[in-house]
Amino acid sequence: MQVIIKKDYDEMSKLAAGMIAEVIRKKPRCVLGLATGSTPLGTYKELIRLHKKERLDFSQVVTFNLDEYVGLDPNHNQSYWYFMYQNLFKHINIRIENVHVPNGKAPDVEAYCAWYDGEIERAGGIDIQVLGIGGNGHIAFNEPGTALFSRTGWVVLDKRTIEDNARFFKRKADVPRYAISMGTGTILEAQRIILLATKESKADAIAASVEGPITANVPASALQLHPDCTFIVDKAAASKLCRKYGSTPKKLPRQ
Ligand code: F6R
Repeated sequence: MQVIIKKDYDEMSKLAAGMIAEVIRKKPRCVLGLATGSTPLGTYKELIRLHKKERLDFSQVVTFNLDEYVGLDPNHNQSYWYFMYQNLFKHINIRIENVHVPNGKAPDVEAYCAWYDGEIERAGGIDIQVLGIGGNGHIAFNEPGTALFSRTGWVVLDKRTIEDNARFFKRKADVPRYAISMGTGTILEAQRIILLATKESKADAIAASVEGPITANVPASALQLHPDCTFIVDKAAASKLCRKYGSTPKKLPRQ
């Protein structure tokens, strides 16, 4: 696992967007795994800028989002479909038929989740997966205690996640209690993973995921098992890391 510490949110977002843009330029029909939440907003803003100013072309790109609240209609202003449309999809030249956000209204949730994993496979697998991290160490909505190799399925949201996300709803009671979430096992199958984190509220989760043991109590710690995973964090989110992180040379230095 590689850790890159950036000065601030802006630098973190630009680096992440640059890494995604590189994948798109090398492989125009690539598959992106996308996250919602506050953290990737700057990355999406930069991708929109690259599209508008540098002609980054999304016309063949396929996307799969990590999660969606159960029971919310895609048109609900707190649905993750709505979030993605407002903050990314409507600003770029992606084809809506190439976009996948789990359907929180699926009548047979279990069959739907198996189909969603199948669609990722049929699309050729995820080339680069963007992740945020919950204050409790969750990735997507894989809350502490979920199996490290879980597949996409429905999950019960943790008390802390409900509290964290209550800021987006009128009342805490309005936050859905269940979600569809890409499984940790599904996430680990991506070719490459980038996890983004800012602010001190994520410092404990980052330290536990990077330097702690691999445990279901900290779902993001499973990323230590991935051969190409990069954590891009700002100084505040990195503030509880104990090891020293520098850049790894791309080539073996001359002996
Ligand atoms: C959202 C998701 C979540 C968030 C996490 C952090 O699709 O998968 O795991 O990444 O809850 O959310 P923010 O970025 O709002 O702090």
